[in-house]
Amino acid sequence: MHKIELNLSYELYEPDELSFENQELLAKALDATQNAYAPYSNFFVGAAVRLNDGSIIVGNNQENAAYPSGICAERNALFHVGAVGKGSIIEAIAIRARTPSFILNQPIFPCGACRQVMLEYEQLTGKPILVLMQGEIGKVMLARGIENFLLPLVFKLIK
Ligand code: THU
Repeated sequence: MHKIELNLSYELYEPDELSFENQELLAKALDATQNAYAPYSNFFVGAAVRLNDGSIIVGNNQENAAYPSGICAERNALFHVGAVGKGSIIEAIAIRARTPSFILNQPIFPCGACRQVMLEYEQLTGKPILVLMQGEIGKVMLARGIENFLLPLVFKLIK
């Protein structure tokens, strides 16, 4: 028997320690929470994806009375990239959330399904995606690449 341990690491930043372009991406993700449709959870999530040509595509969670029919902010943004940004490389995704119930002062992390989708887009280009996660206020958690931090031992179709 061999025991194998995995090492994960991430970086924690004060927002003003980040580059201008990453601060801008985080601001766009918070803006995107304004168009979230979240009457059931009251949890408003926004995502902003930066492509290699500098363009930014946003998404937000869209809920539905038939609960599983809704979609998370991250997949909403990423599938839109798939729809309009053919051939582009995803450099970074920022994920923010807020709720009217209290001030969210910690990062939120993408759900399992969104991680799987992010990973597949990362694998398509082979370039690690930078993931920036922040609540409404507070520190920013930064992960470099999906597989190394957000989704180790990921499912891969073996052909
Ligand atoms: N949600 C996201 O948009 N992204 C995540 O990574 C986790 C959860 C949404 C789904 C639902 O509309 C609400 O947050 C509460 O779960």
